[in-house]
Amino acid sequence: MVSLTESVRFETEGAVALIVIDNPPVNALSWHVRQGLAHGLARAVADGASAVVVICDGRTFIAGADISEFGGAPQGPGLHEIQAAMENAPVPVIAAIHGTALGGGLEVALCAHYRVALASARFGLPEVNLGLLPGAGGTQRLPRLTGVPKALEMMTSGRHIDAAEAAECGLIDTVVDAGDDGDHGGELGALRRAAVEFAERAVAEGLPLTRVRDRDDKVLEARGDEQLFADFRASIARKTRGFLAPEYNVRCIEAAANLPFDEGMEVERELFTELVTGPQSAAQRYAFFAERAANKIPDIPRDTPLLDIATCGILGAGTMGGGIAMNFANVGIPVTIVERDQASLDRGLGVIRKNYERSASRGSIPAEAVEQRMALITGSTDKGDFATCDIVIEAVFEDMELKQTIFRELDSICAADALLATNTSALDVNAIAAVTSRPESVIGMHFFSPANVMKLLEVVRGEKSSDTTVATAMAVAKRIGKVAALVGVCNGFVGNRMLFMRGAEAERMLLEGATPAQVDRVLFDFGFPMGPFAMSDLAGLDVGWKESTSSGSTVREVLCESGRRGQKNGRGYYTYDPETRAATPDPEVERMIVEFATGKGVEQREVSDQEVLERCLYPMVNEGAKILDEGIAIRGSDIDVIWVNGYGWPLYRGGPMYWADSVGLAEIVAAIRSYGESLGGRHWELSPLLERLADDGGHLHQFSN
Ligand code: 3HC
Ligand code: NAI
Repeated sequence: MVSLTESVRFETEGAVALIVIDNPPVNALSWHVRQGLAHGLARAVADGASAVVVICDGRTFIAGADISEFGGAPQGPGLHEIQAAMENAPVPVIAAIHGTALGGGLEVALCAHYRVALASARFGLPEVNLGLLPGAGGTQRLPRLTGVPKALEMMTSGRHIDAAEAAECGLIDTVVDAGDDGDHGGELGALRRAAVEFAERAVAEGLPLTRVRDRDDKVLEARGDEQLFADFRASIARKTRGFLAPEYNVRCIEAAANLPFDEGMEVERELFTELVTGPQSAAQRYAFFAERAANKIPDIPRDTPLLDIATCGILGAGTMGGGIAMNFANVGIPVTIVERDQASLDRGLGVIRKNYERSASRGSIPAEAVEQRMALITGSTDKGDFATCDIVIEAVFEDMELKQTIFRELDSICAADALLATNTSALDVNAIAAVTSRPESVIGMHFFSPANVMKLLEVVRGEKSSDTTVATAMAVAKRIGKVAALVGVCNGFVGNRMLFMRGAEAERMLLEGATPAQVDRVLFDFGFPMGPFAMSDLAGLDVGWKESTSSGSTVREVLCESGRRGQKNGRGYYTYDPETRAATPDPEVERMIVEFATGKGVEQREVSDQEVLERCLYPMVNEGAKILDEGIAIRGSDIDVIWVNGYGWPLYRGGPMYWADSVGLAEIVAAIRSYGESLGGRHWELSPLLERLADDGGHLHQFSN
């Protein structure tokens, strides 16, 4: 065994050379890995090895380029050089894959003559999620192995496929079933042996040194087929609106189908360079690291003991409780869901079943998963059944008295070390915890609707929540596939508190002369899936509205009083087509707004799109800065994680804090001062932190408490 660089070793088994990469945590292609690969290949050839196996130690094959190197000065050999050395090696080169072969990692494997992989391995070109395209020949080689339709789907979605699918589409040559090889070096040992055997067989049988770049058979079908690409573009248009990378990936695959390999590589190089130096990818790479940073809680040691969560209880099978239960069942954790009566329970379980059936009919889960997952969810009307649950999440009506009564009961029922969580969207978690004898075990877990779909989870730390409680809630979030951010107790926590500011200003602009359609269009064009008024209509205009207390004091109240309830009765800020649900601006609503404004003595005028944008987003930025100043969020980047994953902030703009920095804090401070003078209101009161950062040339997205 010889160390080639700090992260790459050279080993031999008989006449076969092994290049072993060990660059924790994910064997990213840092410069010393590239250097090691280059040295290893040269040495294998110089030593007269009969074949070369490229294999990794640790938890995974190469998971991609080292994203943290992007934007820095280039160091070490380029990937293309190494790939050429692999492809042109005079002896067979075999990639031995376990864990995940992603991005640049898969692109390295595509330059081996053969690929063998464990049955548990996964493969993908997820660059699109970082605002990129595979820039090491992946766009030209993947379609040559899998065919164009598969490559289009994989590269524009970033989806990982498993070994069975990879073998079926031609991406890999052999699947290694490691069986019960535990005594002989585990799965990795089995992979190593299988790869060496494959190499020896390749030599003995004189298998051809196949270069993927030379293959055309799989792309011929798509050559000149403009319709195929047009149809594919149409199929992803809605989902990828505003993003550059998906379209650029398609263009590269089009080049793979229509052009010789080297010309296709030119297209890839040009488009990759444009993306990697552009603002969208910078924002998306920032978001990647922001999501991971959000998992780290500075004052909680990494080795804090976690509770073992094997069973989950949910109280309330309504909109949220049902969705939350699905998250746990989806990852195999048994759930006990308790309702106040049998009828409510049956209704709740019925909705869960229908959701699963819909997913199965769309093909997003296998048909048999419906019954498997339903079998993990046990309904009950007896809270006593929570006695054996490791975590209980309360999702009953938003009513402090009710929640306190319930937490007193949970305190007497649940095991001493159970974690007790509330899904309240605005109530004081400390006041809920205070009625128990164990406030240290109580925490907020604020899911977003629909809870089985939305990625975000705000974990709300009570003033007495213990380190173990916080760390366990964060770990549970990760296990059920959520993106979590830790926040403190305040009205609306982080996300809704900022949303209130936007909502208040959007309504105010209606009085001044903007229309719901204009405000929504400006935010839609900015990249949100919908604007605030379309969103209100979707959620129901009457959520939180009561006829008995309504006093016609806002546009929304006026609309509710006139019987408008939003999409559910076809009339809200817009009128909805009963068949298509298409929204049309309603002159009646505009008349009501003008009347309301006149009654308030507000003069109507033309409001520019730029003003709409600034007045919607700057109060959010200002509130975000106040949230940071109060220590409610740990980092500016956590706020961005919340807005991207829970509120549809366009990923390619990073998040409100990142975006504010890109606009320039000094410019925003000047605008807030000026709006504040003419408009007044709490949300225009300038945050001292924002002012300070603007003066010092600091950045919100880098701010950390
Ligand atoms: N570069 C640098 N660091 C990386 C990285 C990468 N490609 N991938 C992961 N990391 C880091 C993470 O930041 C994290 O660091 P931390 O512990 O300090 O926070 C650590 O590795 C572990 O990552 P995760 O928490 O995400 O671990 P998981 O086990 O949950 O997931 C994974 C592992 C599936 C590999 C996931 O990390 C992932 O999806 N990584 C990104 C893969 C990717 O996008 N590859 C393409 C890169 S671009 C490219 O290759 C360009 C090429 O075409 C030229
Ligand atoms: P919901 O009205 O759809 O469901 C509440 C359920 O709790 C009902 O099925 C009801 O029968 C049940 N319930 C009430 N009292 C009970 C009791 N004593 N014992 C057992 N079950 C009882 O309400 P939803 O929307 O699911 O909200 C639940 C909680 O989640 C609230 O605190 C809400 O603020 C919060 N939340 C709601 C979001 C949303 O978008 N709907 C988003 C995030 C949080």
